[in-house]
Amino acid sequence: MKVKVLCPSIMCADFGSFRSEIAQMDAAGIDQYHMDIMDGEFVPNFALSWADFAAVRKMTEKPLDAHLMVKDPSIHLPYAFKYGADIIYVHFESGNAAKHLYEIRKNGRKVGLAINPETSIEKVQTLFPIIDSLLVMRVHPGFSGQIAIPEVEEKLDKLAKIKNRKFSIRLDGCVSPDVIDKWAKLGIEEFVCGTASEMFGEKRGNRSYKEIIDILR
Ligand code: DX5
Ligand code: ZN
Repeated sequence: MKVKVLCPSIMCADFGSFRSEIAQMDAAGIDQYHMDIMDGEFVPNFALSWADFAAVRKMTEKPLDAHLMVKDPSIHLPYAFKYGADIIYVHFESGNAAKHLYEIRKNGRKVGLAINPETSIEKVQTLFPIIDSLLVMRVHPGFSGQIAIPEVEEKLDKLAKIKNRKFSIRLDGCVSPDVIDKWAKLGIEEFVCGTASEMFGEKRGNRSYKEIIDILR
């Protein structure tokens, strides 16, 4: 089994205490942070701003991803470059994916493609040779705390079976401890940890990040 990469979803953290939240997660041995950027158009919500992103960038040395849930990535990519995103995910459904993926590559960042639950492998597989990572949404993007869309399991099953896959797969949305356990055993490497992982929200109770991370590992 490959090493699990755990990526806390910062839109689920306490916005009033990012500094202490990040310090605790860093100390607990988290791998990377997942930063959700929304424009209110591609999805009917707003999450982290680029000002939040820039602030978090100064709080940790760990890699930050930028998950761009936006109608026009070309407006947002310069900010992702400027504020030091290590891996940038653009949605296939935003359109012009290949153009954006090449732009990310040209700027020396890891190239990520995100796909909505309804988007099939067949639609996006021609892009596989030019990406470093595929972010597979288990829910419709935009909100934390949703339940998973069952049809995504079949797609994940096919993805997990690809031989000599050159890109990583990162699951996002309703990623519970059971989901991590199941898919890590089947060869999926990376997991976005929001409320479903019990890292944030009511399910966490008064457990420390260290306790939760030890369980998820
Ligand atoms: C939703 C975001 C996710 C979200 C996951 O669109 O992309 O990162 O925070 O959180 P949960 O675990 O609550 O689904
Ligand atoms: Zn996300």
